[in-house]
Amino acid sequence: MKILMLNGPNLNRLGKREPGIYGVSTLKNLEERMINLGKERKMEVVCFQSNHEGELIDKLHEAEDTEIDGVIFNPGAFTHYSYAIRDAIAGITCPVIEVHISNVYQREEFRHKSVVAPVAKGQIAGLGILGYELALEAFKREAGKEEE
Ligand code: DQA
Repeated sequence: MKILMLNGPNLNRLGKREPGIYGVSTLKNLEERMINLGKERKMEVVCFQSNHEGELIDKLHEAEDTEIDGVIFNPGAFTHYSYAIRDAIAGITCPVIEVHISNVYQREEFRHKSVVAPVAKGQIAGLGILGYELALEAFKREAGKEEE
């Protein structure tokens, strides 16, 4: 099983960016952790981060056209207004779990709306980087169910 972890704008600054909100782990740490957790679970995790909407959309299309079984996606601020990203997710069959490090519902009002959530398989918010791990676990268990 192959999983893509996709991170959107400003998440390359993890660890340095508002650590009180997003924690001290860097993106590199997070990516290494997810790759290793994947290995333990016999899953291949590939990682991509971009600050550009079009590149994230291209990756979603590519996930569909290659052997990716699921996407763990933190679209950053695009979550709240990118209909193009929402349409990209709606247009692929590959399941996408939306992850947010912070509890967006406790923050500014503009963060309370996700235009992506209605087309995502599920959403995890507010659990820090553990949210990415839980999304990986969800994909693992789903695959287990299919094998039963
Ligand atoms: C975020 C929440 C978004 O509102 C914000 O724009 C981000 C990160 C999170 O992980 O909590 O860039 O997606």
